[in-house]
Amino acid sequence: MSTILHIDASIRNITNPNPSHNSISKNIAHRFIQTWEKHSLIDEYIYRDIGINPPPFITQAWMGAAFTPEEKRTTEQKELLTLSDQLIAEIVVADLIVISSPMYNYGMPAQLKAWFDQIARVNKTFDFDLSRGDFPLQPLLSGKTLVIISSSGEFGFEKGGIREQMSHLVPHLYTVSKYLGVEKIYEIAAEYQEFADDRHLKSVANAYLQAEELALQLSHFSHKTVELKKAIHT
Ligand SMILES: Cc1cc2nc3c(=O)[nH]c(=O)nc-3n(C[C@H](O)[C@H](O)[C@H](O)COP(=O)(O)O)c2cc1C
Repeated sequence: MSTILHIDASIRNITNPNPSHNSISKNIAHRFIQTWEKHSLIDEYIYRDIGINPPPFITQAWMGAAFTPEEKRTTEQKELLTLSDQLIAEIVVADLIVISSPMYNYGMPAQLKAWFDQIARVNKTFDFDLSRGDFPLQPLLSGKTLVIISSSGEFGFEKGGIREQMSHLVPHLYTVSKYLGVEKIYEIAAEYQEFADDRHLKSVANAYLQAEELALQLSHFSHKTVELKKAIHT
């Protein structure tokens, strides 16, 4: 079974009149999806371009609604949570989450953070219990795989890289995706965009290749899982 939730976070379009303005992260993510579709079925595909259509920032009224028990919420509070409910429903059904994101100011775009803030909700995606001691939060969802496709102007943000200490995009995604029920993460990174040299060309070409290989690998695995489940039930 494969239900894929695909989130694109760049403020740039996939295609533009000037192709050098095209979003690198979005194009690599779309190559991943196209490769998957060529080799295997996607049962359900949910797509959001939050770079172009960002979710609103949460507010005090939103927080009040989220912490009010469902049966006690006013109509206004229910309306405030409508988008959050929808975004959470998309996470719940997804087996695979693909997040493509640029690095902005060494971290995630505000649009992507706004999406996470809409989704991380007590008794929906995580619960809170002080009897757990120093780590009272626990995710309520499980078993999901995340593919992170990032693009940056500089380079060396990986473990051991020359900018590891400035790397707040992928490490942040690792931390927060736990609360989406993510248990396995794959990373693909295109770097050097601001240098516009051979290293950039190589890095982007390599990221496309990795996206194709990973789509093949994961779609094959998902196909095999369906066959196995069918065999068990016949
Ligand atoms: C507002 C803004 C902030 C950026 N900040 C960084 C940064 O902190 N580090 C970096 O390596 N690149 C930075 N960049 C460069 C982008 O990460 C790079 O252009 C990337 O390719 C954008 O992703 P996209 O091609 O998918 O739109 C920034 C770009 C913009 C527009």
